[in-house]
Amino acid sequence: MKRVLLVFLALLLSFGVASAQYYPNFSKGNPLVIKRGFSKDALRCIECHLKKTPGIVRQWKESRMAHAGVSCYDCHVVPKSSPMASQCEGVRGTNIYTSPMVSPKTCAKCHPTEVEQFEKSGHAKLAAEPVVNKLVALWAKLESGVFAGNQPTTAARHSGCQMCHGTTVKLGPDHKPTLDSWPSGVGARYPDGGIGNCTVCHNRHSFDIAEARKPEACGKCHLGPDHPDIEIYTESSHGQLFATEGEKWRWDSAPDAWEPGDYTAPTCATCHMSGIGDLKTTHNVDERLKWDLMHKRSVVRSGARGDGEKGRKLMRKVCANCHSTIFIDSHFKKLDDSVQVYNFYYDKAFAMLQTLKKKGLLKKDKWSDGFQELYYYLWHHVGRRARQGAAMDGPDYAHWHGFFQLFQVFKDMQAIYNYRIKHNKIEELSHVMSSAPY
Ligand code: HEC
Ligand code: HEC
Ligand code: HEC
Ligand code: HEC
Ligand code: HEC
Ligand code: HEC
Ligand code: HEC
Ligand code: HEC
Repeated sequence: MKRVLLVFLALLLSFGVASAQYYPNFSKGNPLVIKRGFSKDALRCIECHLKKTPGIVRQWKESRMAHAGVSCYDCHVVPKSSPMASQCEGVRGTNIYTSPMVSPKTCAKCHPTEVEQFEKSGHAKLAAEPVVNKLVALWAKLESGVFAGNQPTTAARHSGCQMCHGTTVKLGPDHKPTLDSWPSGVGARYPDGGIGNCTVCHNRHSFDIAEARKPEACGKCHLGPDHPDIEIYTESSHGQLFATEGEKWRWDSAPDAWEPGDYTAPTCATCHMSGIGDLKTTHNVDERLKWDLMHKRSVVRSGARGDGEKGRKLMRKVCANCHSTIFIDSHFKKLDDSVQVYNFYYDKAFAMLQTLKKKGLLKKDKWSDGFQELYYYLWHHVGRRARQGAAMDGPDYAHWHGFFQLFQVFKDMQAIYNYRIKHNKIEELSHVMSSAPY
């Protein structure tokens, strides 16, 4: 019986194939075609670059965008009228213009939502602000040795701030970027008006979401004595689970479909960006935050820094996928109480600073004035570590690198303050000098 059925099926199949061959539309040269592949001009970029820069082409080839037919041409070819229009060696003399710079304006042609969300975040306009407009003296005069007589140089900005924060990309006479202004960090400002560098999390040319979901995507910038977020994460229970079983987690689920079960603990992206439960993916990293934990005094976010009350509600929704209400309440009590303690110290420190200022007991150069140096470390280093450690389950950062050092820095400030008030003069040499309280 089975054999009869198989023969019948085989017959049916061969009939099907045979009849398709004689289907009228196909025989009249009118086949059903799906047009895939690249235009001739686009293919030329790929073919030549496969020889000239094989690493780039190989990486791009593995990307999802390559599979969707997005190529060098779509991102690097610009109209002749673009301020960034130049010609790479391979297209010189043709009417094709290229640019090594690719701003979010180009990505927005196909990803308008991601770009719109990103532009509202602290990663966009606010990120390059201190480097471009506010703290220029720090890198331009102090760090580059100009105050001691060195020639002006952008070395300190170029090697440091710029690679994390971004800067304004300047153009040379050939419309190519100047060597000291490109490439740059998350808040790069492009000559076409685009702001932001998407490749800090989606490294070119794979532009992978799996990569952006891993903590390493953030760790290039969110580390070190003043914002040790990757270190805090490594210390946390979540980081512990990532380190022990992360290899087995599923990283490449479709956007908004990456859910608990694909992973057992959150990464930076899960809490700050990814869709989870009924929360949608966002490229605005400010959206789920209540406090401003990076500036001198911690305040509830408002205006350009987001909406703090709403942010807390959203962040709690992230946790609720895996934790109970009482657990979440306990965590955020820990954070809010820690912010209160930090602010208490900060307000006292600020009041001392104001009094010394009024009495003329501050040196003009704050970097050789022990009190002002300690004031800086209080909020910028130890105070941030205490706050961010409490926010993200990093007890070592909240305590040993945080509150434990915070009270000591504060006591040293009090001692200097009392000395100056008592003697009505500034002590001869800074007690702090270059030895930051790490
Ligand atoms: C989805 C958009 C996109 C595609 C597709 C793309 N690139 Fe890029 N490429 C970028 C971005 C973004 C940068 C970084 C630009 C910046 O920092 O301003 C970049 C940088 C570059 C650079 C300079 C960086 C370096 O390492 O020298 C080269 C060269 C380059 N791309 C070549 C190519 C080639 C060749 C292809 C095709 C195989 C390609 N790109 C496809 C977006 C793209
Ligand atoms: C015949 C070979 C050839 C072709 C075709 C070609 N390129 Fe290039 N391209 C090069 C070479 C060589 C370089 C220089 C690499 C270097 O700096 O070492 C280059 C450099 C670049 C750069 C880096 C910035 C610059 O201006 O040097 C980009 C971006 C780029 N090409 C994009 C493209 C795009 C997009 C196309 C297609 C429209 C294309 N290339 C076609 C050979 C080619
Ligand atoms: C011409 C249209 C186009 C442009 C320009 C473009 N993209 Fe895409 N991109 C796509 C398409 C289509 C997909 C979806 C591919 C898929 O899911 O199969 C995609 C997918 C992606 C993904 C998800 C990849 C993954 O692993 O699922 C990222 C990230 C991305 N693009 C980033 C960028 C960035 C950054 C830029 C600008 C530098 C950019 N794209 C420019 C069309 C474009
Ligand atoms: C290339 C460097 C860089 C990378 C990579 C990076 N960031 Fe940032 N991030 C910054 C800088 C610089 C700021 C401070 C911007 C500002 O507000 O001036 C910042 C700020 C933030 C803030 C606070 C935003 C605000 O307005 O207060 C959050 C949250 C954040 N980043 C999360 C992340 C996460 C999550 C990742 C990885 C998925 C990440 N960042 C990757 C550089 C980076
Ligand atoms: C390793 C990457 C990195 C380097 C280098 C770096 N920053 Fe930052 N910076 C960050 C990150 C990340 C934040 C966000 C801190 C947070 O959320 O606590 C930040 C925050 C700031 C802030 C507070 C946010 C704001 O916009 O007001 C200022 C100001 C700042 N940095 C200035 C600078 C300057 C100026 C330099 C160079 C002299 C510099 N940074 C070097 C990564 C970096
Ligand atoms: C701070 C890191 C970071 C930066 C900067 C960043 N992305 Fe993403 N991106 C992510 C993460 C994380 C995901 C995956 C979200 C998830 O889990 O679904 C993602 C996903 C995407 C996707 C897939 C669809 C989606 O929305 O999930 C696209 C497209 C994309 N990004 C485009 C961009 C573009 C364009 C830029 C620049 C304007 C950019 N990204 C900048 C971290 C980043
Ligand atoms: C379990 C969820 C979770 C994970 C995982 C997580 N964060 Fe956070 N993050 C938070 C919470 C909660 C806050 C504080 C929110 C508030 O203000 O109420 C915070 C605050 C921050 C801030 C401070 C913003 C400011 O005001 O200065 C930065 C920057 C940040 N996270 C980056 C990261 C990075 C980078 C990683 C990964 C290395 C990471 N986070 C991992 C939940 C998380
Ligand atoms: C995808 C699931 C998941 C999400 C989302 C998640 N966590 Fe967790 N979390 C875990 C797991 C698993 C552990 C380790 C087991 C445990 O202690 O419950 C853990 C542990 C913790 C711990 C350590 C507790 C201890 O006993 O030492 C804290 C604190 C914590 N989570 C806070 C949060 C907060 C706050 C959020 C939201 C901002 C959050 N978690 C989001 C899964 C998650």
